[in-house]
Amino acid sequence: MSTEQGYFTEANSADVVISRNAKAENKRLAEVMEVITRHLHAAVKEIEPTEKEWFDAIMFLTRTGQMCNEWRQEWILLSDTLGVSMLVDAINNRKPSGASESTVLGPFHVANAPELPLGSDICLDQKGTPMIVAGRILSTDGTPIAHAKVDVWQANDEGFYDVQQKGIQPDFNLRGVFRTNDRGEYWFKGVKPKYYPIPDDGPVGQLIGALGRHPYRPAHLHYIITAPGFETLTTHIFDPDDPYIHSDAVFGVKESLMAKFEPVSDPARMADHGFEKPFVEVHHDFVLAPAK
Ligand code: BEZ
Ligand code: FE
Repeated sequence: MSTEQGYFTEANSADVVISRNAKAENKRLAEVMEVITRHLHAAVKEIEPTEKEWFDAIMFLTRTGQMCNEWRQEWILLSDTLGVSMLVDAINNRKPSGASESTVLGPFHVANAPELPLGSDICLDQKGTPMIVAGRILSTDGTPIAHAKVDVWQANDEGFYDVQQKGIQPDFNLRGVFRTNDRGEYWFKGVKPKYYPIPDDGPVGQLIGALGRHPYRPAHLHYIITAPGFETLTTHIFDPDDPYIHSDAVFGVKESLMAKFEPVSDPARMADHGFEKPFVEVHHDFVLAPAK
């Protein structure tokens, strides 16, 4: 860490600020603030904002904070739409070859969703096109993982999570926690997901709109999969036929996370699964990396 650099000038601005932090006890904090200070000063020097532009930026950040509450995290949305959430995810979840890839958690996971028997229907209001999802949880050598915890959640057929529509959707609609059987299999019923906008009625929505971007995420199902001796996998599966599959507002799509959403209208197969209308069938296996 450099020592005091004299009085602040345009030329030495970052060094003067950084050297002021020399006595920080927390060396990681000092290192982080050094890098941020260097890059921030470099950005300001390149942009040369007017004082009005800088104040507008401060007010944007102020509104971002003011938008946050128990159910709304505008700072995470900002991180998501800048690609920073996916970058932090990539750095922290480098997987060995053959293991399933992770993607962004998003703001709509609920920690205490009910644990349900395999095959349960998580669509509590029966709206939309029914769906059956099935697959296996495997280790990288192909061994099925019994009793893995499979925590799933999804938006409804109109693109809203239950927590966004309290009093409209039943509590815990389209959420459930399942345990794989002895063959590592899981299966459950839900509803065919649809693309939906990230919450865009706040400052982040205004920013991406001003940048000519849409707020949509392609249709997906969320998973958190945990098993003793394996790394936790936080991921999604996506519908490759979705109109927004190439332009996810939060950059969460990966080629390996595409699943097939097969429409089924055979009356015999509908009856097999207890559906009274055509449904979609999704198969997807996940491979967990060994714990480090
Ligand atoms: C989600 O998929 O639930 C999500 C992810 C990032 C921002 C908003 C929603
Ligand atoms: Fe989502």
